[in-house]
Amino acid sequence: MSTESEFDVALRAQMSSIEKALLAAVDSDSELLTEAARHIIEAGGKRTRPQLVVLGSKFGAPYGPGDRIEQQVCIGAVVVELTHVASLYHDDVMDDAAVRRGTPSANARWGNSLAILVGDYLFARASDLVTDLGLDIVRVYSAMFNRLVRGQIAETVGPEAGTDPREHYLQVLADKTAALISTSARVGAMIAGADPTVQDLLGDFGEKFGVVFQLSDDIIDITSDETGKTPGTDLREGVDTLPILLARRSTDPADARLLELLAGDRTDAAVDEALGLLRKHPAIEEARADVAARAEAARRVLDPLPDGPAKQALADLCDVVVTRTA
Ligand code: FPP
Ligand code: MG
Repeated sequence: MSTESEFDVALRAQMSSIEKALLAAVDSDSELLTEAARHIIEAGGKRTRPQLVVLGSKFGAPYGPGDRIEQQVCIGAVVVELTHVASLYHDDVMDDAAVRRGTPSANARWGNSLAILVGDYLFARASDLVTDLGLDIVRVYSAMFNRLVRGQIAETVGPEAGTDPREHYLQVLADKTAALISTSARVGAMIAGADPTVQDLLGDFGEKFGVVFQLSDDIIDITSDETGKTPGTDLREGVDTLPILLARRSTDPADARLLELLAGDRTDAAVDEALGLLRKHPAIEEARADVAARAEAARRVLDPLPDGPAKQALADLCDVVVTRTA
């Protein structure tokens, strides 16, 4: 007998209508544009951000299928996923990434120019749809988008001389990833008219969860061959993520070769060798411990929320981040 709860069934139905709306949102009169825009959406993805919009909405007024709140939640979920996917089109150009979600990246398939323009198109569609959610949400969305772009610029430019690279890294994660994740949970709560203190709490949860989510992604970039992306992309691009920052601090003579590789040109051979050394390095365990501690801190933010399946689902997301990093 199935153990799926009423909440899970309703959540699945809601996520499935969001999925349809997501594809409908990028339909255009150009076959090429529609195909290129659908490409990464159809390749899969966890839909974490839409899920956060839906879960955030469960802390406001109750609503059912077809209600105005449900329709607005669907729009909010589409807006955040389109924004996320748009950023991936651009990110893959910047990272010169050949694969995304286990499929050739848009830039690999159509070239950089088209990939950038299709990313712009996805963002244009998100910007159009967000206006249906009212000025308050447009304001939250615009402020988030400013942080998203600034975070990516800060990562590209790197830390300024004399500043702490770890502080810089954490600020990049907060801006390039946590801002959108936090906005997703907050917007869900706003749409459903949740109490402002609950909106703030969910925003705070998203800030903490978003940082740990990206931290975990950065560890997996080193340790896993099953991300649907090319392992070692951060290393290749010269982006110092937490495990690399931790390894750089080492004074152990056994790390001499790794430090030499990190200081040198990132050729394919150097990246492969550094990746092999990093995978066995204690910095990975240290970074994993940081993920576990931060996931726990994110979960604690949820404490004041009423117990129930939505709160549980948010807490479960924290567990998933820890287990996928292990
Ligand atoms: C992934 O980082 C990238 C981001 C989370 C943000 C990218 C943001 C932009 C490119 C700003 C411009 C956006 C738009 C919509 C115009 P990553 O390379 O660490 O993650 P990955 O491993 O998934 O590639
Ligand atoms: Mg990337």
